[in-house]
Amino acid sequence: MKVLLTGGNGQLGIALKNEFTQIGQIYEVISTDYDTLDITNFEQVKEYLIANKVDIVINCAAHTAVDKCEEAMERAYQINAVGPRNLAIVCEQIGAKIVQVSTDYVFDGAFNTLEAKQVGLEDVLQSRIEKAKLSRPWREDDKVAPQSIYGTSKLMGEELVRTLCKKHFIIRTAWLYGEGNNFVRTMLKLAQTNKELNVVGDQFGNPTYAKDLAVAIVNLIQTEYYGVYHGTCEGTCSWYDFATKIFELKGIDVKVNKVTSEQFVRPAKRPFYSSLDNFMLKIQGLNTFRPWQEALADYLEADTAWQEENLGGKVNG
Ligand SMILES: NC(=O)c1ccc[n+]([C@@H]2O[C@H](COP(=O)([O-])OP(=O)(O)OC[C@H]3O[C@@H](n4cnc5c(N)ncnc54)[C@H](OP(=O)(O)O)[C@@H]3O)[C@@H](O)[C@H]2O)c1
Repeated sequence: MKVLLTGGNGQLGIALKNEFTQIGQIYEVISTDYDTLDITNFEQVKEYLIANKVDIVINCAAHTAVDKCEEAMERAYQINAVGPRNLAIVCEQIGAKIVQVSTDYVFDGAFNTLEAKQVGLEDVLQSRIEKAKLSRPWREDDKVAPQSIYGTSKLMGEELVRTLCKKHFIIRTAWLYGEGNNFVRTMLKLAQTNKELNVVGDQFGNPTYAKDLAVAIVNLIQTEYYGVYHGTCEGTCSWYDFATKIFELKGIDVKVNKVTSEQFVRPAKRPFYSSLDNFMLKIQGLNTFRPWQEALADYLEADTAWQEENLGGKVNG
Protein backbone atom coordinates (compact mmCIF):
# COMPACT_ATOMS: atom_id res chain seq x y z
CA MET A 1 0.00 0.00 0.00
CA LYS A 2 1.45 3.35 -1.01
CA VAL A 3 0.56 6.24 1.25
CA LEU A 4 1.26 9.82 0.21
CA LEU A 5 1.60 12.45 2.92
CA THR A 6 1.26 16.06 1.84
CA GLY A 7 2.52 18.73 4.23
CA GLY A 8 4.69 15.94 5.64
CA ASN A 9 6.99 18.27 7.61
CA GLY A 10 4.15 19.76 9.66
CA GLN A 11 3.10 18.58 13.12
CA LEU A 12 0.66 15.93 11.91
CA GLY A 13 2.86 14.88 8.99
CA ILE A 14 5.76 14.13 11.35
CA ALA A 15 3.48 12.26 13.77
CA LEU A 16 2.15 10.13 10.91
CA LYS A 17 5.65 9.31 9.67
CA ASN A 18 6.52 8.12 13.19
CA GLU A 19 3.34 6.08 13.43
CA PHE A 20 3.90 4.40 10.05
CA THR A 21 7.49 3.62 11.08
CA GLN A 22 6.15 1.82 14.17
CA ILE A 23 3.74 -0.24 12.05
CA GLY A 24 6.46 -1.28 9.63
CA GLN A 25 6.29 -3.02 6.29
CA ILE A 26 2.61 -2.89 5.27
CA TYR A 27 2.81 0.70 4.08
CA GLU A 28 5.25 2.42 1.79
CA VAL A 29 5.12 6.06 2.85
CA ILE A 30 6.02 8.92 0.53
CA SER A 31 6.30 12.16 2.45
CA THR A 32 6.12 15.42 0.53
CA ASP A 33 5.98 19.06 1.49
CA TYR A 34 5.58 22.38 -0.31
CA ASP A 35 8.99 22.04 -2.03
CA THR A 36 8.29 18.60 -3.47
CA LEU A 37 4.53 18.74 -4.01
CA ASP A 38 2.60 21.99 -3.96
CA ILE A 39 -1.00 20.88 -3.52
CA THR A 40 -2.31 24.12 -5.06
CA ASN A 41 -0.82 23.12 -8.43
CA PHE A 42 -3.31 20.77 -10.12
CA GLU A 43 -0.99 19.54 -12.90
CA GLN A 44 1.77 18.76 -10.42
CA VAL A 45 -0.66 16.93 -8.14
CA LYS A 46 -2.02 14.87 -11.03
CA GLU A 47 1.39 13.95 -12.36
CA TYR A 48 2.78 13.07 -8.92
CA LEU A 49 -0.12 10.90 -7.78
CA ILE A 50 -0.32 9.01 -11.06
CA ALA A 51 3.46 8.52 -11.40
CA ASN A 52 3.72 7.20 -7.83
CA LYS A 53 0.66 4.91 -8.10
CA VAL A 54 -0.66 6.16 -4.80
CA ASP A 55 -3.33 4.15 -2.91
CA ILE A 56 -4.03 6.58 -0.08
CA VAL A 57 -3.48 10.33 0.26
CA ILE A 58 -3.36 11.89 3.72
CA ASN A 59 -3.54 15.63 3.30
CA CYS A 60 -1.68 17.25 6.20
CA ALA A 61 -0.91 20.39 4.19
CA ALA A 62 -2.77 23.50 5.27
CA HIS A 63 -2.51 27.21 5.93
CA THR A 64 -2.78 26.88 9.70
CA ALA A 65 -1.86 30.41 10.78
CA VAL A 66 -5.39 31.39 11.77
CA ASP A 67 -4.72 35.13 12.16
CA LYS A 68 -2.61 35.41 9.01
CA CYS A 69 -5.44 33.83 6.99
CA GLU A 70 -7.52 36.97 7.66
CA GLU A 71 -5.10 39.14 5.69
CA ALA A 72 -4.00 36.48 3.18
CA MET A 73 -7.48 35.31 2.23
CA GLU A 74 -6.69 34.17 -1.30
CA ARG A 75 -3.69 32.14 -0.16
CA ALA A 76 -5.78 30.59 2.61
CA TYR A 77 -8.41 29.44 0.09
CA GLN A 78 -5.74 28.22 -2.33
CA ILE A 79 -4.12 25.98 0.28
CA ASN A 80 -7.16 25.01 2.37
CA ALA A 81 -9.77 24.63 -0.41
CA VAL A 82 -8.17 24.44 -3.88
CA GLY A 83 -5.39 22.12 -2.65
CA PRO A 84 -7.72 19.46 -1.18
CA ARG A 85 -9.94 19.81 -4.26
CA ASN A 86 -6.97 19.00 -6.53
CA LEU A 87 -6.08 15.96 -4.46
CA ALA A 88 -9.71 14.77 -4.34
CA ILE A 89 -10.20 14.97 -8.11
CA VAL A 90 -7.09 12.92 -8.81
CA CYS A 91 -7.82 10.43 -5.99
CA GLU A 92 -11.23 9.80 -7.56
CA GLN A 93 -9.63 9.29 -11.00
CA ILE A 94 -7.10 6.73 -9.73
CA GLY A 95 -9.41 5.06 -7.17
CA ALA A 96 -7.37 6.19 -4.16
CA LYS A 97 -8.65 6.96 -0.67
CA ILE A 98 -8.22 10.47 0.69
CA VAL A 99 -7.97 11.75 4.24
CA GLN A 100 -8.73 15.45 4.59
CA VAL A 101 -7.87 16.92 7.98
CA SER A 102 -10.16 19.72 9.10
CA THR A 103 -10.86 21.81 12.15
CA ASP A 104 -13.15 22.62 15.06
CA TYR A 105 -13.21 26.20 13.70
CA VAL A 106 -15.87 25.14 11.17
CA PHE A 107 -18.31 25.64 14.06
CA ASP A 108 -19.43 29.09 15.11
CA GLY A 109 -18.79 28.25 18.73
CA ALA A 110 -21.70 30.21 20.01
CA PHE A 111 -22.59 28.11 22.98
CA ASN A 112 -24.13 24.84 21.92
CA THR A 113 -26.00 24.75 25.17
CA LEU A 114 -28.46 22.39 26.71
CA GLU A 115 -29.67 24.71 29.46
CA ALA A 116 -27.59 27.84 29.14
CA LYS A 117 -30.57 30.12 29.55
CA GLN A 118 -30.80 29.04 33.17
CA VAL A 119 -27.45 30.70 33.84
CA GLY A 120 -27.84 34.35 34.55
CA LEU A 121 -24.46 35.30 35.94
CA GLU A 122 -23.42 38.92 35.59
CA ASP A 123 -19.77 38.40 35.10
CA VAL A 124 -18.96 37.58 31.47
CA LEU A 125 -16.03 35.28 32.11
CA GLN A 126 -17.75 33.33 34.85
CA SER A 127 -20.94 33.16 32.82
CA ARG A 128 -19.10 31.69 29.83
CA ILE A 129 -17.36 29.14 32.04
CA GLU A 130 -20.72 28.09 33.49
CA LYS A 131 -22.23 27.86 30.01
CA ALA A 132 -19.35 25.71 28.79
CA LYS A 133 -20.04 23.26 31.61
CA LEU A 134 -23.62 22.93 30.40
CA SER A 135 -22.72 22.64 26.73
CA ARG A 136 -22.74 19.60 24.54
CA PRO A 137 -19.66 19.00 22.38
CA TRP A 138 -20.35 19.30 18.65
CA ARG A 139 -21.18 16.11 16.76
CA GLU A 140 -20.31 15.50 13.12
CA ASP A 141 -23.86 16.28 11.96
CA ASP A 142 -24.22 19.55 13.86
CA LYS A 143 -24.65 22.68 11.79
CA VAL A 144 -21.40 24.33 10.75
CA ALA A 145 -20.98 28.11 10.63
CA PRO A 146 -17.33 29.19 10.58
CA GLN A 147 -16.40 32.64 11.84
CA SER A 148 -12.95 33.15 10.33
CA ILE A 149 -11.25 32.91 6.94
CA TYR A 150 -9.35 29.90 8.23
CA GLY A 151 -12.63 28.22 9.18
CA THR A 152 -14.48 29.08 5.96
CA SER A 153 -11.57 28.00 3.76
CA LYS A 154 -11.23 24.70 5.65
CA LEU A 155 -14.96 24.11 5.35
CA MET A 156 -14.79 24.65 1.60
CA GLY A 157 -11.94 22.11 1.52
CA GLU A 158 -14.16 19.61 3.35
CA GLU A 159 -17.06 20.15 0.96
CA LEU A 160 -14.94 19.81 -2.16
CA VAL A 161 -13.36 16.58 -0.94
CA ARG A 162 -16.75 15.18 0.07
CA THR A 163 -18.22 16.01 -3.34
CA LEU A 164 -15.32 15.02 -5.56
CA CYS A 165 -13.95 11.79 -4.09
CA LYS A 166 -16.16 8.93 -2.96
CA LYS A 167 -13.51 7.26 -0.81
CA HIS A 168 -13.06 10.12 1.64
CA PHE A 169 -12.40 10.45 5.33
CA ILE A 170 -12.79 13.98 6.66
CA ILE A 171 -11.43 14.24 10.16
CA ARG A 172 -11.88 17.39 12.19
CA THR A 173 -9.36 17.94 14.94
CA ALA A 174 -8.46 20.78 17.31
CA TRP A 175 -5.77 22.54 19.33
CA LEU A 176 -3.08 20.31 17.87
CA TYR A 177 0.42 20.02 19.31
CA GLY A 178 3.35 17.89 18.24
CA GLU A 179 6.68 18.49 16.54
CA GLY A 180 6.44 22.17 15.57
CA ASN A 181 5.24 25.53 16.82
CA ASN A 182 2.32 25.05 19.15
CA PHE A 183 0.64 26.37 22.29
CA VAL A 184 2.55 24.07 24.66
CA ARG A 185 5.95 25.20 23.44
CA THR A 186 4.80 28.83 23.38
CA MET A 187 3.71 28.62 27.03
CA LEU A 188 6.98 26.98 28.07
CA LYS A 189 8.96 29.70 26.28
CA LEU A 190 6.89 32.52 27.77
CA ALA A 191 7.28 31.12 31.26
CA GLN A 192 11.03 31.58 30.97
CA THR A 193 10.79 35.34 30.81
CA ASN A 194 7.49 36.10 32.59
CA LYS A 195 6.39 35.54 36.17
CA GLU A 196 2.78 36.17 35.19
CA LEU A 197 0.86 35.27 32.01
CA ASN A 198 -2.59 36.27 30.77
CA VAL A 199 -4.39 33.36 29.10
CA VAL A 200 -7.87 33.28 27.60
CA GLY A 201 -10.31 31.55 29.92
CA ASP A 202 -13.51 31.75 27.87
CA GLN A 203 -12.65 29.68 24.79
CA PHE A 204 -13.20 25.95 25.18
CA GLY A 205 -11.91 23.07 23.11
CA ASN A 206 -9.91 19.85 23.09
CA PRO A 207 -6.10 19.95 23.21
CA THR A 208 -5.00 17.11 20.93
CA TYR A 209 -1.63 15.41 20.67
CA ALA A 210 -0.69 14.88 17.01
CA LYS A 211 0.49 11.37 17.90
CA ASP A 212 -3.03 10.39 19.05
CA LEU A 213 -4.54 11.82 15.87
CA ALA A 214 -2.03 9.89 13.75
CA VAL A 215 -3.08 6.63 15.45
CA ALA A 216 -6.74 7.34 14.71
CA ILE A 217 -6.02 8.17 11.06
CA VAL A 218 -3.96 5.03 10.52
CA ASN A 219 -6.82 2.98 11.98
CA LEU A 220 -9.39 4.67 9.75
CA ILE A 221 -7.52 4.22 6.47
CA GLN A 222 -7.59 0.47 7.01
CA THR A 223 -11.38 0.59 6.76
CA GLU A 224 -13.90 1.55 4.15
CA TYR A 225 -15.92 3.54 6.69
CA TYR A 226 -15.89 6.74 4.68
CA GLY A 227 -17.42 9.94 6.01
CA VAL A 228 -16.94 12.81 8.43
CA TYR A 229 -15.27 12.26 11.80
CA HIS A 230 -14.32 14.25 14.84
CA GLY A 231 -10.92 13.25 16.21
CA THR A 232 -9.69 14.99 19.35
CA CYS A 233 -8.34 13.98 22.73
CA GLU A 234 -11.07 13.39 25.28
CA GLY A 235 -12.29 16.16 27.58
CA THR A 236 -12.96 19.87 27.26
CA CYS A 237 -10.95 22.72 28.71
CA SER A 238 -10.15 26.38 28.21
CA TRP A 239 -6.79 27.74 27.04
CA TYR A 240 -6.33 28.84 30.67
CA ASP A 241 -6.91 25.26 31.93
CA PHE A 242 -4.55 23.97 29.23
CA ALA A 243 -1.79 26.41 30.23
CA THR A 244 -2.25 25.68 33.93
CA LYS A 245 -1.94 21.95 33.32
CA ILE A 246 1.26 22.40 31.28
CA PHE A 247 2.89 24.32 34.15
CA GLU A 248 1.58 21.89 36.76
CA LEU A 249 2.99 18.89 34.89
CA LYS A 250 6.34 20.62 34.38
CA GLY A 251 6.48 21.92 37.94
CA ILE A 252 6.88 25.50 36.71
CA ASP A 253 5.94 28.27 39.09
CA VAL A 254 4.20 30.97 37.03
CA LYS A 255 1.04 32.91 37.81
CA VAL A 256 -1.62 32.40 35.15
CA ASN A 257 -4.37 35.02 34.91
CA LYS A 258 -7.67 34.07 33.31
CA VAL A 259 -8.78 36.72 30.80
CA THR A 260 -11.69 37.12 28.39
CA SER A 261 -11.44 37.05 24.59
CA GLU A 262 -12.16 40.79 24.60
CA GLN A 263 -9.04 41.34 26.69
CA PHE A 264 -6.92 39.37 24.24
CA VAL A 265 -8.01 40.66 20.83
CA ARG A 266 -6.73 38.78 17.77
CA PRO A 267 -7.37 39.41 14.05
CA ALA A 268 -9.43 36.23 13.58
CA LYS A 269 -12.56 35.57 15.57
CA ARG A 270 -12.37 32.32 17.56
CA PRO A 271 -15.30 30.23 18.72
CA PHE A 272 -16.10 30.36 22.43
CA TYR A 273 -17.05 26.72 22.46
CA SER A 274 -15.71 24.37 19.81
CA SER A 275 -15.35 21.19 21.80
CA LEU A 276 -15.84 18.16 19.54
CA ASP A 277 -17.48 14.82 20.31
CA ASN A 278 -15.76 11.87 18.58
CA PHE A 279 -19.24 10.47 18.11
CA MET A 280 -18.75 8.63 14.81
CA LEU A 281 -15.54 7.00 16.01
CA LYS A 282 -17.20 6.00 19.28
CA ILE A 283 -20.25 4.32 17.73
CA GLN A 284 -18.01 2.22 15.51
CA GLY A 285 -15.65 1.20 18.32
CA LEU A 286 -12.80 3.22 16.80
CA ASN A 287 -12.24 5.93 19.39
CA THR A 288 -8.66 5.48 20.55
CA PHE A 289 -8.15 9.01 21.92
CA ARG A 290 -6.92 9.46 25.49
CA PRO A 291 -8.00 12.13 27.99
CA TRP A 292 -6.19 15.33 27.01
CA GLN A 293 -4.31 15.53 30.33
CA GLU A 294 -2.83 12.05 29.82
CA ALA A 295 -1.77 12.80 26.25
CA LEU A 296 -0.24 16.11 27.35
CA ALA A 297 1.85 14.39 30.03
CA ASP A 298 3.10 11.92 27.42
CA TYR A 299 3.98 14.77 25.03
CA LEU A 300 5.88 16.72 27.67
CA GLU A 301 7.97 13.61 28.35
CA ALA A 302 8.55 12.93 24.65
CA ASP A 303 9.46 16.55 23.88
CA THR A 304 12.40 16.87 26.29
CA ALA A 305 14.99 17.18 23.50
CA TRP A 306 13.28 20.33 22.20
CA GLN A 307 12.88 21.64 25.75
CA GLU A 308 16.56 21.09 26.55
CA GLU A 309 17.61 22.80 23.34
CA ASN A 310 15.23 25.74 23.57
CA LEU A 311 14.61 26.42 27.22
CA GLY A 312 18.21 26.67 28.33
CA GLY A 313 17.95 23.89 30.89
CA LYS A 314 15.07 25.59 32.72
CA VAL A 315 12.64 22.82 31.90
CA ASN A 316 11.77 21.88 35.45
CA GLY A 317 10.74 25.25 36.74
N1 LIG B 1 -2.50 23.18 14.42
C1 LIG B 1 -3.72 23.16 14.96
O1 LIG B 1 -3.92 23.61 16.11
C2 LIG B 1 -4.87 22.57 14.21
C3 LIG B 1 -6.15 22.63 14.77
C4 LIG B 1 -7.23 22.11 14.04
C5 LIG B 1 -7.01 21.51 12.82
N2 LIG B 1 -5.77 21.47 12.31
C6 LIG B 1 -5.57 20.87 10.98
O2 LIG B 1 -4.70 19.77 11.13
C7 LIG B 1 -3.92 19.62 9.93
C8 LIG B 1 -2.46 19.50 10.30
O3 LIG B 1 -2.07 20.68 11.02
P1 LIG B 1 -0.57 20.90 11.50
O4 LIG B 1 -0.63 21.61 12.81
O5 LIG B 1 0.20 19.62 11.37
O6 LIG B 1 -0.09 21.96 10.40
P2 LIG B 1 1.36 22.57 10.19
O7 LIG B 1 2.30 22.10 11.24
O8 LIG B 1 1.17 24.03 9.97
O9 LIG B 1 1.82 21.90 8.81
C9 LIG B 1 1.24 22.23 7.59
C10 LIG B 1 2.22 21.87 6.51
O10 LIG B 1 1.63 22.16 5.23
C11 LIG B 1 2.66 22.69 4.42
N3 LIG B 1 2.09 23.42 3.29
C12 LIG B 1 1.59 24.69 3.27
N4 LIG B 1 1.19 25.00 2.01
C13 LIG B 1 1.43 23.92 1.24
C14 LIG B 1 1.22 23.64 -0.12
N5 LIG B 1 0.69 24.54 -0.96
N6 LIG B 1 1.58 22.42 -0.60
C15 LIG B 1 2.14 21.50 0.23
N7 LIG B 1 2.35 21.72 1.53
C16 LIG B 1 2.01 22.91 2.04
C17 LIG B 1 3.43 23.58 5.36
O11 LIG B 1 4.68 23.89 4.81
P3 LIG B 1 5.35 25.31 5.18
O12 LIG B 1 5.64 25.26 6.65
O13 LIG B 1 6.55 25.33 4.30
O14 LIG B 1 4.33 26.37 4.82
C18 LIG B 1 3.52 22.67 6.59
O15 LIG B 1 4.62 21.78 6.51
C19 LIG B 1 -4.28 20.81 9.05
O16 LIG B 1 -5.24 20.41 8.10
C20 LIG B 1 -4.90 21.81 10.00
O17 LIG B 1 -5.82 22.66 9.36
C21 LIG B 1 -4.68 21.99 12.96
